Amino acid sequence: MKQHLIAPSLLAADFTKLGEDIEMVNNSEADWFHLDVMDGNFVPNISYGMSIIKAIKGMAKKPLDVHLMIEEPERYIEQFREAGADIITVHYEACPHIHRTIQQIKETGAKAGVAINPGTPVSVLDDILEDLDMVLVMSVNPGFGGQKFIYRTLQKIKDLRERMDIRNLSKLIEVDGGVGLQNAEVVVKSGADVLVAGSSVFKSKNPTNSIHLLKQVVKNTSIV
Ligand code: DX5
Ligand code: ZN
Repeated sequence: MKQHLIAPSLLAADFTKLGEDIEMVNNSEADWFHLDVMDGNFVPNISYGMSIIKAIKGMAKKPLDVHLMIEEPERYIEQFREAGADIITVHYEACPHIHRTIQQIKETGAKAGVAINPGTPVSVLDDILEDLDMVLVMSVNPGFGGQKFIYRTLQKIKDLRERMDIRNLSKLIEVDGGVGLQNAEVVVKSGADVLVAGSSVFKSKNPTNSIHLLKQVVKNTSIV
């Protein structure tokens, strides 16, 4: 049976009680922590950087999935790895030398991911699929939590999964933005392995239960 992972995005957490939210994720059925780094340049918003990630690493009992929404990410890969990133994802649109950047991530010992924006076709990944550990398909335009899922993304996930299957590759597909109970099933059916969930977890009344319910949906979804 294929495993599906849930990665709560701490961007939607209450930063005045980050410790409690980290503990909640530690004690929940979530699989990873999804950490969004924004530079106010690649995306129109600024979030947090390596010092916060280092602090989170000190408490987290699950892998840190670090999503870099920054220009020139190659300048900071080693620092994010040292801060505790287990998976480092860079944006295709921010990397003129994407092949080299993927190798750089792998040399640090982290898993390497590449993210594509909603307007970027999956075909741009054809020549690097073998080198990757994960593809992050953005289902909103990056920069903010709480946006509406773009349904056209489902076709991109299917297309990407087909391209992998043809070449016998089983890289992870992560989907990020506007994911919640209302669409988790169809996202998994399209071929996703990892669901990022920000607002649908942290803005809910009972975040632990929201993670549980998401996990139930992905467990009960049969893949044809
Ligand atoms: C958006 C970030 C997402 C965001 C998801 O740019 O990459 O990870 O935190 O938040 P929701 O689930 O609220 O769309
Ligand atoms: Zn993200």
